Amino acid sequence: MNVKTLNKVFLEVFHVLPKQAFFAPGRINLIGEHTDYNGGHVFPCAITYGTYAVARKREDQLVRLYSKNFPETGVIEFNLNQLDYDQEHVWANYPKGMIRYIMEAGFNIPTGFDCAIEGNIPNGAGLSSSASIELLTGVLVNGLFQLDVPRLDLIKIGKRVENEFIGVNSGIMDQFAVGMGKKDAGILLDCQTLKYEYAPIQLENHKIIIMNTNKRRELADSKYNERRSECEEALEQLQQDLPIEALGQLSEKQFDEHQHVISNETVRKRAKHAVYENIRTLKALDELKAGNLAAFGQLMNQSHISLRDDYEVTGVELDSLVEAAWNQPGVLGARMTGAGFGGCAIAIVENNEVDHFIAHVGAAYLDKIGYAADFYVASIGDGAKEIELDAVK
Ligand code: GLA
Repeated sequence: MNVKTLNKVFLEVFHVLPKQAFFAPGRINLIGEHTDYNGGHVFPCAITYGTYAVARKREDQLVRLYSKNFPETGVIEFNLNQLDYDQEHVWANYPKGMIRYIMEAGFNIPTGFDCAIEGNIPNGAGLSSSASIELLTGVLVNGLFQLDVPRLDLIKIGKRVENEFIGVNSGIMDQFAVGMGKKDAGILLDCQTLKYEYAPIQLENHKIIIMNTNKRRELADSKYNERRSECEEALEQLQQDLPIEALGQLSEKQFDEHQHVISNETVRKRAKHAVYENIRTLKALDELKAGNLAAFGQLMNQSHISLRDDYEVTGVELDSLVEAAWNQPGVLGARMTGAGFGGCAIAIVENNEVDHFIAHVGAAYLDKIGYAADFYVASIGDGAKEIELDAVK
């Protein structure tokens, strides 16, 4: 990816040169899955794959957007005084929703703008390409119009776009990771209070490998919303016994002692995952800080097992990748990452085993599933920001 090429694309599409450039990353989550909307902890980091934009203010009220990833949709155009969701605007609904809610929050966007975008996050892979474009739009309008919208507000607005504009009931993890990421650090975030801390990710002689199932996340949104309501049902029943506001407030012991009040067995399993995964995330941070990488990896494995057996969001594709990963030499841990139902898994692999790992996990996956997985080495990078217009990445 190269901002210089994007400049050229902008010139071809809009017949003028852009003035400013921006970047927003994707994210992986190291551990703490399906805990964010349960008021628990997550431990994601931003990656160096992401979405780039070059842009230029206009004098009128038009916003014109072009994505190199979706050339077939051409330039998508809308007016600042007509910011309703429009199915025909496909991907551009994310920037549109951001603009709308930023304006509703009282910030003045005086004119429209032209913008060309290109992302290198695999689309639909569960690496938060949507949060990336949301935060990209946030830093873009901030940068073009000197709005000074605080970072946390952009993060919350991004979540609102997802929840109210697009209709996915997601938590705050993705926007937070994309907005607050820091090179070579994970972010331990308490999703109930939004308190957070950075933890250096020092993996000694290991790399984080992203494994893409290449399974489209069909029905993922409705299944995601279903898990959310199952957790809400569990919480309501537990509240008859306990003065809690979220499942993330429970210890394992408290859960074990009170779980019988949850009448439905499936719902009980969902809640168990939410509680145990939250505690696991805190334990994982402690192990990482103490330099116990092997123990960190074990907790990742347990996380996957819980997501497979209790939360039931993995599926044969993710399980095949992760279980093949567990069998390889030099692997500290492996688990699905993100919402699940397809998408990506991650593994922590010793440097000199990486080639062997990719060859063997790839072959096992192809053999079992019938199509290939993709593998990428993850680098942990910064959150969304303005970049140099002539930056070469
Ligand atoms: C998706 C959502 C997040 C989070 C994860 C699961 O990525 O957008 O808010 O719930 O799934 O941990």
